[in-house]
Formats: sequence, structure tokens, C-alpha cells
Amino acid sequence: MVSILITAGPTREHLDDVRFLSNGSTGRMGFALATAAMRLGHEVRLVLGPVDAAPPPGCMTRHVVSALEMQRAAEDWFSDCQIAIGAAAVADWRPAHRAVGKPARHGSTRSESIELVQNPDIIAGLAAKKGQRVVVGFALESEAATMEQAIARGEDKLRRKQLDFCVCNRSDAIAKDSSAMALVFADGRRVDLGVRDKVAAAEAILSEAVRLYGERRGNA
Ligand code: C5P
Repeated sequence: MVSILITAGPTREHLDDVRFLSNGSTGRMGFALATAAMRLGHEVRLVLGPVDAAPPPGCMTRHVVSALEMQRAAEDWFSDCQIAIGAAAVADWRPAHRAVGKPARHGSTRSESIELVQNPDIIAGLAAKKGQRVVVGFALESEAATMEQAIARGEDKLRRKQLDFCVCNRSDAIAKDSSAMALVFADGRRVDLGVRDKVAAAEAILSEAVRLYGERRGNA
């Protein structure tokens, strides 16, 4: 039994108390991973952005809103985990300033600009201090990309973020139950999962992560 940290869902980056920047992630992939992990007897710690659905029963869950909150919760739990999987669609940017209340719109024709600052890369931050832990990320590419392009970008993310492996798919996967997926590994290995539903993909992702962790422990 290992303890598995999973980030899931979108983050919301508030402009004021009402308006925010976000994306359409539903948390479904993270939930599939959590369900599969618990079925295999593992402990799950889920750091969950705002989604409509309730997390699968049985996992420890921390509800967060922004990327900074998600980072704090994930960092806090990381030391108790052996595997971390970043399934969250973290907003890349947040407004530099958050206004209080709901400021009134100015003249209807006036354009506005928003100053944005970059959010921290949560999974890369965890991977930078992983020790023996296994850290897994996702690389979601636009629907226009071919699977080969998605894989090439996944390999780039894998190196930049120091991940052990990266799950590559395309944005047609958002809010869907199934999509074409491939895994790319730090040792150059590739595993084509084909088109799978998220539950079957989650099982394959978990078994690779648990196997890698076992190998690493065995070699230590
Ligand atoms: O760079 P990109 O956003 O495509 O990377 C996706 C992977 O990195 C996912 O695993 C996602 O959860 C993670 N990520 C993160 N923090 C960010 C951006 C992405 O953990 N700020």
C-alpha cells in the first residue's frame, strides 16, 4: 500500500470576489485515478479545485480554489506520499491584483486590460524535491495537434518538469469519458494506451507508477 497524492480539477484565479479566470476541467481524470488507486488498496490524498461533482468517497480531500492554494495543500501532503500525480488543469496565470467586492463595469465601450502574473508550476515544484517518490504529469495538447505532436510536447514537459512519466493526450479529452492516450517515460520508453475510457487509463497509469516506485525502492 502506498499513499498517492492527486491534484485534480481546475483552479480559479479571482479578479474580484465574483469574477475569475478558469477552465473547463471537470476533475474526472483525477477522480478516475483516485477510484482506481483505492480499489487497488492504496491511500489517496486528493487536492481538488472547484468542480460540480463530489469526489469519490474514501479519499482524503482538500478543497482549494486558486493555484496558490493548490500548491500549498499539495506541498503540505507531499512528504506523506510516495507517488504524486498532477491531473489538475492549473491556470497558468492569475491577476496581479484582486479587487474587493464586485467593482462596477466602466463605460460599455471601454476596453480594459488585466495585469497577469504567472502561477507556480505545482508538479514541477514537487518533482524538484522528489527523492524516491514517483511524480507523474499530464500533457494536454490542442485538438489540432496530432498524437505524435502531443507525445513530443509530453517529452519536453517530462524533461522540463523532471517527471518520471507524462500522460499525453489532446484537449478533446476535456469533459469526455475516453480519449487517446500515450505514456512517455524519463528512460525514453513509450506506452501507447490507445483510446481508453478514463477509468481504464487510470488503472494503467497507476500500475506504471506503482511499479516504478517498487523498482526504485528495490534498487535503493
Ligand atoms: O505545462 P502544462 O500546463 O501543460 O503541464 C501540465 C502538467 O503540469 C499537468 O500534470 C498539470 O497538473 C501540471 N501543472 C501544475 N502546475 C501548473 C501547471 C501545470 O502542476 N502551474
